[in-house]
Amino acid sequence: MLSTTLLFSVVALLSSCLALVLDNRSPSSPGTAAATSLDFSEYVTTTKLADANLAGYLGVFFLGADPYVYFYLSNGNDAVSFKALNKGSPIARPTKGTGGVRDPTIIPGGGAEAGKKWYIIGTDLNIGKTSWDASQRTGSKGIFVWESTDLINWVNERLVTVEESTGGMVWAPEAVWDPAKEQYLVHWASKFYSTSDTKHTGSPSNIRIRYAYTSDFKAFSAPQTYIDKAPTNIIDLDILALDDNSTFVRFMKDETKKTVFVEVSTTGLFGTWTRPGGASATIQSGVEGPAAYLDNKTPGKVHLLLDFYGADGYRPYESTNPASNSAWTASSRKGFPANLRHGSVMPVNQTLYDALRAKWGS
Ligand SMILES: *[C@@H]1O[C@H](CO)[C@@H](O)[C@H](O)[C@H]1NC(C)=O
Ligand SMILES: *[C@@H]1O[C@H](CO)[C@@H](O)[C@H](O)[C@H]1NC(C)=O
Repeated sequence: MLSTTLLFSVVALLSSCLALVLDNRSPSSPGTAAATSLDFSEYVTTTKLADANLAGYLGVFFLGADPYVYFYLSNGNDAVSFKALNKGSPIARPTKGTGGVRDPTIIPGGGAEAGKKWYIIGTDLNIGKTSWDASQRTGSKGIFVWESTDLINWVNERLVTVEESTGGMVWAPEAVWDPAKEQYLVHWASKFYSTSDTKHTGSPSNIRIRYAYTSDFKAFSAPQTYIDKAPTNIIDLDILALDDNSTFVRFMKDETKKTVFVEVSTTGLFGTWTRPGGASATIQSGVEGPAAYLDNKTPGKVHLLLDFYGADGYRPYESTNPASNSAWTASSRKGFPANLRHGSVMPVNQTLYDALRAKWGS
């Protein structure tokens, strides 16, 4: 009885906080509705509606034992059915750093580069040549970058240092166009050693998400901390814009509990982030490398790939309420290849789809 009363008070308190947050967002927010519900779906609607021009999806992944960039093309406009391009051989192999790239992510150009430029960035790590311990103490502080103006020719491979020397590694870099800043927000995961521990033999900090801004993936601003949930370790951040301005969902892995969860902001990348369902709500455990993308045909539908790293890699999930930790269902895996590892998927139009197929066939 007592606990029921307590629970109601907590819910009431959370609801009124939420109402306040939402009321601050815009003068016309329905604060009274917010007070009766913790469901974000009525506030967070995907305004990036299905674009009739989009005809398929390009998937960019690495494969378990092969740390290179692999392309997969959707079978028609099916968001969860893919075929390997280039007969399953890599599209790019790093020639610098460790010679291996994990977690490749494709980034569509933003602002003046929209529809004209694409980047692939990834982790500089070849685990076959090192150990998990060494790679987190004295791992690479750089990210791999390739760029293209047509998705076919990938040029200007570079390894750009983004993190300070106290950092142990730079893992799973990704980027999102920040419409407020009109630059790319690049983020990754690092842990840190004290400045006196120059060989990084001591105890590090928890792992947190770091960020920098860039306009060209050549010059980056000084790194800063974006998400720090100390003492919890957080890795594998993936941000999806739900409109053209300020509504975003961000998926990440709790590397302490080995779970993936989502947070939502209606006030931009540096606004107020809320974890729907509360501090322990999760989408799935035993997974990593969340990769979210909008459906080309169904407005409001989002796909989420989750890497079952202890099993067969990525499996697809879907939701029409992406700002939720509980509203995800497993998609059909009939056309989804096994053993794809942490990467990303990007919608493409018919011209780009045809060009990819003409170049690398399937
Ligand atoms: C697809 O996108 C490319 C690159 O932005 C553009 O050049 C092309 O015209 C687009 N094609 C269609 C059918 O919209
Ligand atoms: C973005 O902001 C601009 C200016 O404030 C506004 O006109 C536009 O409708 C907004 N777009 C979306 C998708 O919210």
